[in-house]
Amino acid sequence: MGEYALAPRLKIELVTIFPRMFDGPLGESMIKRAVEQKLVQVEAIDLRLFAEGRHRQVDDEPYGGGRGMIFKPEPLFKAVENLRNRSGHTRPRVILLTPQGRQFNQELARELAQENHLILLCGRYEGVDERVRTGLVDDEISIGDYVLTGGEIPALVLTDAVVRLVPGFLEEETLVEESYAAQLLEYPHYTRPPEYRGMRVPSVLLSGDHGRIALWRRQQQLERTRKRRPDLLKKAELSPADQRYLDSLDSLNDQ
Ligand code: ADE
Repeated sequence: MGEYALAPRLKIELVTIFPRMFDGPLGESMIKRAVEQKLVQVEAIDLRLFAEGRHRQVDDEPYGGGRGMIFKPEPLFKAVENLRNRSGHTRPRVILLTPQGRQFNQELARELAQENHLILLCGRYEGVDERVRTGLVDDEISIGDYVLTGGEIPALVLTDAVVRLVPGFLEEETLVEESYAAQLLEYPHYTRPPEYRGMRVPSVLLSGDHGRIALWRRQQQLERTRKRRPDLLKKAELSPADQRYLDSLDSLNDQ
């Protein structure tokens, strides 16, 4: 078997000044399993290794004045160039995590899961030198409209969402079901016991009738999404039966 056959399906390199922040999350649970199965390779890279001088300074004061420190361009450019050089045949996609980026969502996670190699740059402090944005990165991604202290947790969020979609990680059926349900919220789940503190499991789930169960679940998804996230319904792929069910809910409301 050549080396190519042993290559992981996806390599993710996280460039950070806090590489140890990743030890816990990457060493546990699902991602750990994917790494053990050699499906993915995830590695935290210390940005300071690419900084010059005795102090290995990665940041500096902003030109023009103002508060806070800005990530210097040189360490980030050097880090990416170094990772690109050692990557051989893969063409890495370089992503900067920043609140100013395009909003991360399931569709983007699916797109990134098709790549072979991601380099995630975790910003810190007030920001990064603009030349990193214009001359180094392919994408800027935000995980939501709130500001965290740095890009490490966003990079982990992205890693988790992408790794579970790498072909071979989940069972094919789970992904098919997930894409069928895309843009809808989940239906309610129950497990044993059938009654707990007076709260009963809906009888349809105990009926053994798979057709009825599937219909009930789909209707629950539609109802929940309509109530909690009507914005999602506009983008969802709905069958004529789905649409009829939603119309029936609307007319109930109108009465
Ligand atoms: N860095 C700080 N806040 C962030 C956010 N919401 N998304 C991505 N990177 C960030």
